[in-house]
Amino acid sequence: MEKNIAEIRQDYVRHSLRKKDVDKDPIKQFQKWLTEALTAEVREATAMNMATVSEQGVPSSRILLLKDVNKNGFTFYTNYQSSKARELEVNPSTALTFFWPELERQVRIQGIVKKVSKEESEEYFKSRPRKSQIGAWASPQSSVISSREILEEREQKLEKKFEGQDTLPKPEQWGGYIVEPFFLEFWQGRASRLHDRIVYTREDNTWKINRLAP
Ligand SMILES: Cc1cc2nc3c(=O)[nH]c(=O)nc-3n(C[C@H](O)[C@H](O)[C@H](O)COP(=O)(O)O)c2cc1C
Repeated sequence: MEKNIAEIRQDYVRHSLRKKDVDKDPIKQFQKWLTEALTAEVREATAMNMATVSEQGVPSSRILLLKDVNKNGFTFYTNYQSSKARELEVNPSTALTFFWPELERQVRIQGIVKKVSKEESEEYFKSRPRKSQIGAWASPQSSVISSREILEEREQKLEKKFEGQDTLPKPEQWGGYIVEPFFLEFWQGRASRLHDRIVYTREDNTWKINRLAP
């Protein structure tokens, strides 16, 4: 590598976060920050890292897109037969991380995952572009496939099967999960590595707010 990555450093100076300024409700605080990220045109602002842990205790994580955030939690969509889904069946705990570099912000969330209702998944599936609907049918997510051609052949067959239909039915193995949070951290980069970290912890259905050392 030509560049010495140990020398890469950013000083964070754009914003600050004080305990007295955050919303009492962490979901509202998240919605505020997400809106600011969208307004600032942060690229892929809804992309989040999502972690699972295998039965043997081995963690894995991947990027997913947040599709809804409401008072109950954070929703994403995926394949219910994927590796992540199999791990969630054994251990429904997860951690999500958002990183919005343009705003020098990170949000970390821990929560318990539940499947959303079939109706909610169907409603969202309907709103996806037809090509994405075909993709959901075509891909046995996380399974070994012998070649890319297999996928393309499946895509063509499905195009024929559903010819003339604007909207496809939702595949049985595809749907959403909601992450019901019990912990959230809002991280704001500050000068000299003295960053702001405000955390929310759920205790007996109320949210406790604390500041953590960076
Ligand atoms: C920007 C981006 C967005 C993604 N969004 C999703 C998504 O919303 N749902 C999904 O199942 N996979 C999504 N993926 C693919 C996942 O990262 C991952 O490869 C896939 O879900 C299989 O993960 P698993 O084998 O751990 O189950 C996305 C990847 C990237 C880079």
